[in-house]
Amino acid sequence: MKVLGIESSCDETAAAVVEGGRKVLSNIVVSQVKDHALFGGVVPEVASRKHTEAIVPVINAALGDAGLGLDDIDGIAVTQGPGLVGALLVGLSVAKSLAFARNIPFVGINHIEGHLTAIFLEEEVEFPYVGLIVSGGHTSIYLVKDLGDYQLLGKTIDDAAGEAFDKVAKVLGLGYPGGALMDRLAKQGDCKAIRFPRGLLGKAKFNFSFSGMKTAASQYIKKQHEDLIGGMTNDIAASFQEAIVDVLVKKTVAAAEQSDVKSIVISGGVACNSRLRARMAEIAKEAGIKTCFPSPVFCTDNAAMIAALGDYYLKSGKRSDLAMNAVARWEV
Ligand code: KG4
Ligand code: ZN
Repeated sequence: MKVLGIESSCDETAAAVVEGGRKVLSNIVVSQVKDHALFGGVVPEVASRKHTEAIVPVINAALGDAGLGLDDIDGIAVTQGPGLVGALLVGLSVAKSLAFARNIPFVGINHIEGHLTAIFLEEEVEFPYVGLIVSGGHTSIYLVKDLGDYQLLGKTIDDAAGEAFDKVAKVLGLGYPGGALMDRLAKQGDCKAIRFPRGLLGKAKFNFSFSGMKTAASQYIKKQHEDLIGGMTNDIAASFQEAIVDVLVKKTVAAAEQSDVKSIVISGGVACNSRLRARMAEIAKEAGIKTCFPSPVFCTDNAAMIAALGDYYLKSGKRSDLAMNAVARWEV
């Protein structure tokens, strides 16, 4: 079965064709990052308008790259939520139109479930495993018992980790989004230079809090003399990154130990962070747990993960109604 996946929940317009739920025949992602950079964050109306411009060319490119036409597509999977409603509706409307016009079965998919299972595009992982979703919009730990069977173990009570990275990067004058830049600068810095707080570490089980950490770092930066801050940027980036990574790693490994699982899967944009990758692998290994990271292209928002889940649900007989609506908040 060849499934066309469509994703437009935030600031990436994406389409992909996946065969048999595993084989990625094409994977196109058009990012709107530069359209939002001017505003220092994602502007919902700009996102919707940019999706409207990009969605048809992106779908055509995905079909073209796969060497297929719409007649070859056996199913359509589209992100139904969570996300920005106006953005979601663009992907949803196009998916419904194609499904209706061509009489192709279609199904709405939860974006978080897509991240949680994106690893299967590249490798097999035994169930159950612990999944950490860490992005600009989400920071959650799930126990993944099977496809379609998830238990939320904890989540952020305020900011997402990526959001905290982006806000501190902004205070440092690094531009938007700043997570990847912080990662790069941190490599030249001393991660022990400044001891930033570790929100909720040792408390509140597997819930996170990054807001206080972000505020502490922002206040620290603002207190420094303007002439000195340039020379301190690398140390601040390294120290802040270390604080975030410390909390993410310790809570996730503790969740895996408590759940008695053999593997941890990390996904979402912040899963690209080099320090997170290294520390998670190191600490999990000490606990006898395997760590799996999808490649960066499948960690960040993409439609291949949506198509792969679509394959599973369509094969299970699930179909969505053409009256299906977008869902802004939707826990798996
Ligand atoms: O999953 P994603 O592409 O979009 C959503 O938020 O859904 O994640 C984007 C987030 C941004 O906050 C960005 O700064 C962060 O992921 N990010 C990183 C790195 N690369 C991307 N954060 C830390 N280190 C990185 N290398
Ligand atoms: Zn995402």
